[in-house]
Amino acid sequence: MDRALSPIDRAKFLAGKRGAAFVETGMRVGLGTGSTAAWMIRCLGERVREEGLRITGVPTSERTAALAREAGIPLATLDEAKWLDLTIDGADEFDAGLCLIKGGGGALLREKIVATASDQMIVIADAAKEVATLGAFPLPVEVVPFGWRTTQALIEEALINVDVMGRSVTPRMAGEVPFVTDGGNFILDLDLKRIGNPRQLSLMLNQIPGVVENGLFIDICDMVVIGHADGRVELRDLGSGSATQERLELADDDNIFAEIGD
Ligand code: A5P
Repeated sequence: MDRALSPIDRAKFLAGKRGAAFVETGMRVGLGTGSTAAWMIRCLGERVREEGLRITGVPTSERTAALAREAGIPLATLDEAKWLDLTIDGADEFDAGLCLIKGGGGALLREKIVATASDQMIVIADAAKEVATLGAFPLPVEVVPFGWRTTQALIEEALINVDVMGRSVTPRMAGEVPFVTDGGNFILDLDLKRIGNPRQLSLMLNQIPGVVENGLFIDICDMVVIGHADGRVELRDLGSGSATQERLELADDDNIFAEIGD
């Protein structure tokens, strides 16, 4: 296992495995998107197969739905499940108050809807995702294709009056054409470098016509599980203020996960 995975993948795997351990039988679980969430989904699938864990998963992207089906996790739509016990997802950045930037994989809209419809959201991440101030990772903003250049101009104009350090806005591309989300929308990546007031920025962005949603998750995440390449896993719970550390031993048969890519 240790030889098969890079240090960053080992850290993501440990966070995903520990995150999957929070799931209990009978739960309706939001399944996140991205490489860390992919490890968690495989670990959850293993628990379904080997422990007989009975859960219903609600995927946050088509990509995650395919992976979860492959892992043997029974799925439902959010409308069918109505409300979820727990969502486990990755993040591009998190700060001390567990405010997040998400959407590096382009799934921020469904991720935010699913996480908000959950009693609890746990973020699983490698240690590099922790920041003192959000903004080094470009903030994804999902916009409708109709008039998107105008929406971009409105965002650029609005950014003049907010507490950020950078103001460049770049349409996300998939080769020569705009990247299209599962909802059929486009993504604008805002390179802000430092976000002084995430709450104010989030409200401001969502007021602009054409903006569907932004990648700032504020007051949504309850706990973060941080994986380290050396085997340590930190658990930080916002509600109780507790911070604990564990060490996870990797079993030989964890090798089956070495082929995962996302
Ligand atoms: C997907 O749209 C994102 O929000 C991901 O959750 C985020 O980009 C983290 O991805 P990784 O786990 O691949 O770093």
